[in-house]
Amino acid sequence: MGSSRGIGRAIVIKLHQDGYKVVVTYCYDEAAGKKVFKEINEEGLLIKLHGGEESSIKEAVKKVDDKYGHLDVLVVSGMHDRPHGFKETSYEDWKFVLNSKLDSSFLVPKYFYPLLKKSESPQIILNTSSVDDKPQIGALAYSVASAGVTNLMKAMAIELAPEGFRVNAVCPGTTRTDNWIGFGLEDDEMWEGFAKSNPMRRVPTPEDIAEAVSYLVSEKAKYINGLFLYVDGGNRHRG
Ligand SMILES: NC(=O)c1ccc[n+]([C@@H]2O[C@H](COP(=O)([O-])OP(=O)(O)OC[C@H]3O[C@@H](n4cnc5c(N)ncnc54)[C@H](OP(=O)(O)O)[C@@H]3O)[C@@H](O)[C@H]2O)c1
Repeated sequence: MGSSRGIGRAIVIKLHQDGYKVVVTYCYDEAAGKKVFKEINEEGLLIKLHGGEESSIKEAVKKVDDKYGHLDVLVVSGMHDRPHGFKETSYEDWKFVLNSKLDSSFLVPKYFYPLLKKSESPQIILNTSSVDDKPQIGALAYSVASAGVTNLMKAMAIELAPEGFRVNAVCPGTTRTDNWIGFGLEDDEMWEGFAKSNPMRRVPTPEDIAEAVSYLVSEKAKYINGLFLYVDGGNRHRG
């Protein structure tokens, strides 16, 4: 989910290269979805999916069921943020961000569960963030949603493992994607600053995150369940 842009786009392209039949999903921007679909030679499926709306998810489940009859890997990687501090965050912003990030992380796996259950090795990957255990100043609702996704992933990993599921999370560091439109996407100086302060002297690329997902869903990770895989260059350890 959320593969028309940014990190989700890189993940869907990587999984396609790995040999998966993939489903590209967009939420608002059909043209962006079509562009990614073209990049994978229109193999697979292109669908609209709003992860916070039950009716939209049910429609998506039906389309995937009609085409494939099962689902091996579900990646939840889509949201739009409204990064504001406590005083600036309106209740509308709060609801929008929690719906976009937290509700979707619950609802999409919930409704795709029957199709995943038909797989021999079902897997769920939640794309959360590296602000899961401490808040990002100026992004209140996002920090709260990320903390929620953290416990959601742990609970799903424990509950579903006896059924053969693996549930894991990737936690990207600050990544230059459209998520930053309106909040410094074009500000090269800001991005140079992020890179300089990172122990690895660069920020992650969407492709770095996609490589981590490719590993997590591979046979190499077959005993890995309930892991938060940080792809942040070690940045979270800075004092
Ligand atoms: N970029 C970062 O710095 C960063 C860091 C840590 C974690 N993350 C996490 O990575 C994930 C992806 O972010 P990104 O940077 O790739 O953002 P992005 O480039 O803005 O892409 C967001 C994607 O999510 C889709 N989307 C938005 N709202 C949705 C919804 N309600 N239901 C389903 N899909 C929805 C968008 O579809 P449309 O194209 O149709 O709008 C788009 O495909 C997010 O969960 C974010 O929290 C990002």
